[in-house]
Amino acid sequence: MKNIAVLVSGGGTNLQALIDAQNGGTITHGKIVTVVSNKADAYALERAKRAGIETAVISRRAEGENFSHALTEHMKARSIDLIVLAGFMSILNGELLREYEGRIINIHPSLIPSFCGDGFYGLHVHEAALSYGVKVTGATVHFVNEVVDGGKIIMQKAVEVRDGDTPETLQRRVMEEAEWIILPRAVEKLCAEM
Ligand code: GAR
Repeated sequence: MKNIAVLVSGGGTNLQALIDAQNGGTITHGKIVTVVSNKADAYALERAKRAGIETAVISRRAEGENFSHALTEHMKARSIDLIVLAGFMSILNGELLREYEGRIINIHPSLIPSFCGDGFYGLHVHEAALSYGVKVTGATVHFVNEVVDGGKIIMQKAVEVRDGDTPETLQRRVMEEAEWIILPRAVEKLCAEM
């Protein structure tokens, strides 16, 4: 059984999908042992607590230059095998990326290499997709390295854009039809292969 850490910043619906997959038997080779938020008021923390999972708040604002080291120490103390960024809105660098190379993954709400990189996060991604006029978008699970959204792709799923979509309706459909499906699948695959 691999030890999984999930990093969050917001609502935590992707974390919820992972918890549900763990309870429902989709994830069998790993267990979420800690949920870390960089924001104290993230609703994702409530979801973790409700599921009986340990929570912690580690923020760049409080830690400054020590942020990456503090995260690394937290992971090492729990023998974490896989770090999952599930709506984590802070860019990682330094020690954590070196120590956990090939063991950090992220879910991004577009088909990388479209609509990714600096400034493309959350609703902004869907605003950009709609203003470009793409007819197909989706979600991507990829490894995390020093290039923002630049690591090797693990899994992708396409989602149709509909006439009349708003950034909010498109975000919801990408979550329902892609993110909540491929993130648990990718986590199970990686844990099983480790
Ligand atoms: C998700 O759509 C996720 O793909 C996106 O933020 C949302 C978080 O929602 N992540 C990024 O944009 C990362 N660049 P959640 O907190 O409900 O899982």
